[in-house]
Amino acid sequence: MKNINIGLIGFGTIGAGVAKILLESRQGISDRMGAELNLNKIADLDITTDRGIKLPDGILTTDIDQVIGNPEIDIVIELIGGYEPARTFVERALKNKQSVVTANKALLAKHGNELFATARENGVDLYYEASVAGGIPIIKTMREALVGNQINSVCGILNGTCNYILTKMGDEGANFDEVLKTAQELGYAEADPTFDVEGIDTAHKLAILTSLAFATAIDYKKIHVEGICNIKPVDFAFAREFGYKIKLLAIAKNEGGYIEARVHPTMIPKEHMLAKIDDVFNAVFINADALGPSLYYGQGAGMMATASAVVADLVDIARNLNCNNLRRIPDLSFQDSKIMPGNYRPISEISSQYYLRFSALDKTSVLSRIAGILGDNGISIASVIQQGGGQGDSATVAVVMQTHKAQEKNLRAALNKIDQLEIIASPTTVIRMESDL
Ligand code: HSE
Repeated sequence: MKNINIGLIGFGTIGAGVAKILLESRQGISDRMGAELNLNKIADLDITTDRGIKLPDGILTTDIDQVIGNPEIDIVIELIGGYEPARTFVERALKNKQSVVTANKALLAKHGNELFATARENGVDLYYEASVAGGIPIIKTMREALVGNQINSVCGILNGTCNYILTKMGDEGANFDEVLKTAQELGYAEADPTFDVEGIDTAHKLAILTSLAFATAIDYKKIHVEGICNIKPVDFAFAREFGYKIKLLAIAKNEGGYIEARVHPTMIPKEHMLAKIDDVFNAVFINADALGPSLYYGQGAGMMATASAVVADLVDIARNLNCNNLRRIPDLSFQDSKIMPGNYRPISEISSQYYLRFSALDKTSVLSRIAGILGDNGISIASVIQQGGGQGDSATVAVVMQTHKAQEKNLRAALNKIDQLEIIASPTTVIRMESDL
């Protein structure tokens, strides 16, 4: 039976999960593959900390050259994370004709186009299933299972840490910092959790999905990003009152050749399937012309779920190697010559319904002044709730409005004026409401 040799760089949480699967499920994998996947080397700066895995002798090394460029290693798994030295190592491996599996969405969002070009030039594969939505096989689905479809939109909950935090804040009234700490302890969060809570990690993943959906080069900078740090417990209470849940959504749509790609906290009707995705779970909701709507659901972060996706990539590449058929599937699903820059619609040009929470002084005519400015800017109000009041002129009250569909640039123009009024105590909270995803 053919032997395919694997080198792993980065022996953290996910690396330990991959080693565990490769060692413990060796037989099951070879029964499916008809070849042996051997974990030959693991390179990390720290080879003394006990990861709870019993490794065969001689596997661990601090010498990267025992993996990258080692002619005995067929496939390199990059699980270092971050931009450098991950980019340098992946590039070196590809140039040494080693195929690579990575879980590194930040790397692909920033350098994916160059790295895919390097893989092509060297006739090797660069696979990245674990980079988006953890264990959910969404890359394989979009690259292979949906090839007969034109994709109209992809929406998802792509960050386990944020979904965990929003779920606990919404259901239990939990405090943001405490829940974030638990998510870090559970191994969900990035090394720098601001990537999670500021929406950056979700945007990295959406950049990849947008390319797979619409045949565009990966362009992270075109994605509008807002995180979850400004959402307050009171917003969850109002959302409930309106029949909505708050999720950090990644949204990519192609409307008449214009691509909208955005990440922000979103209110979605509580009956929508994405509203039911809680805790660390992720989901991707795709609207495609032949299949119609479909939902992909599973654990979006964590040791074994992510390791499952890494091993799936390894087996795919090993099967390609076994048939002398590397580069069987184009990196971003479409032939390279069909990948275009993409015509992105700026956020100011999008339309949405909005939830607006004004923090206003409890004075007469507050409502009419806010409503007047919104009306002057073409924004129509669907409902109004006022909370508190009656405690004197200097007390603040929460005035919450739900708008009908409006243009973002009109809303921003109105809020610029409203937030300068002397009756407004602090900047207005805005959450987009999406009812027709
Ligand atoms: N920090 C990421 C998350 C890990 O919470 O989803 C998986 O990409």
